[in-house]
Parts: sequence; structure tokens; C-alpha cells
Amino acid sequence: MKKVIVIAGMLFAAGAIASPFEKPSEAIEYRQAAFSMIATNFGDMANMVKGRKDWDQAQFSQRAQFIAQLAQMPEEAFQFKGAEAGDTTKAKPAIWSDWSGFNAKLTQFQTDMNQLAKVSLEGDERATKKAFGVAAKNCKSCHSDYKYK
Ligand code: HEC
Repeated sequence: MKKVIVIAGMLFAAGAIASPFEKPSEAIEYRQAAFSMIATNFGDMANMVKGRKDWDQAQFSQRAQFIAQLAQMPEEAFQFKGAEAGDTTKAKPAIWSDWSGFNAKLTQFQTDMNQLAKVSLEGDERATKKAFGVAAKNCKSCHSDYKYK
């Protein structure tokens, strides 16, 4: 019994949370769902920034908080064994052959989305739009190297 507790403690210390997926297709669908929700929220924010929709600081900030959370989700779905390739994924093999490069882009995205969430809460429209511009660069920067069109 004591041994089990020690091992469980070590796993948590290493950050090795058991995967929620049972098969590769679940991991692929999960990461696509996360990006799809990110894109819907981000699109609404872009409409406000570009003036296609009235500026609403509270709603913008709510969406930024959503994306800051969503941006944490895809990582474990890219780590599930067997979810690297297949007809249903647009992920490029470069994600796995260059994991540190991909992971750096993912981390930058998370950092910039956290910053946008924080700035937007402070309520300054100009500063919020500026932080949005920084965060927006991440999408294309990662897709051009790691996602098929
Ligand atoms: C760190 C890399 C990375 C970043 C940053 C990133 N994406 Fe993606 N995105 C991917 C990959 C890889 C896929 C393909 C996933 C798959 O098909 O398995 C993807 C898929 C998508 C999809 C398709 C989802 C579906 O339904 O299949 C959309 C839409 C999308 N991303 C939008 C965005 C937007 C908008 C941003 C920025 C706010 C963004 N992504 C940031 C890597 C990234």
C-alpha cells in the first residue's frame, strides 16, 4: 500500500497525468474540437477589433479568458500514442519529429493568450487591441509549419 502511494506521488510530481483518451481518434477529435472553439471565440474578437462588430470590453475579455483555458488543452492530445497520423488529422509529422519546436510555439501561444486575458480584464481598449495583435500572430506561425491546409 505504501509503495502505491509513493509511486502515485512520483507520477504527479512528474506531471504524468493519466490520459483521458482510449484510442487515437478520440485524441484527434479532442484537439480539433479545442481549436474549433478557439477559432470561434477568436473570430468574434477579431470582428470587434476590426470594427465589424461593436466593441464590448466585457465580452471580449470573457472570450479571452475562454481561449486562455482552451489553449492548455491540445497538448496532451498531441502526445497520445497513435494520434500522429491518419486521414482525419491535418497535423504535420513535423510536430513529432520536431517536438521541441512545436512545443515552443504552443507555449508562446499559451503565454500570449494568458497575457491577452489579463490585459483585457484591466479594461483598456487600446492595450487590449495591441495584445490581441500579438496573440493573433501565433495562429499562422504555428499552422505554416505544423498543420496541413
Ligand atoms: C502551436 C500550434 C498551433 C497554434 C498556436 C494554433 N494552432 Fe490551430 N491547429 C494546429 C494543429 C496542429 C491543427 C491540426 C489538428 C488536427 O487536425 O489534428 C490545428 C487546427 C486548427 C483548426 C481546425 C480544427 C478542426 O475543426 O479540425 C482551426 C480552426 C484552428 N487550428 C484555428 C486556430 C486559431 C484561430 C489559432 C490562433 C488563435 C490557432 N489555431 C493556433 C496548431 C496550432
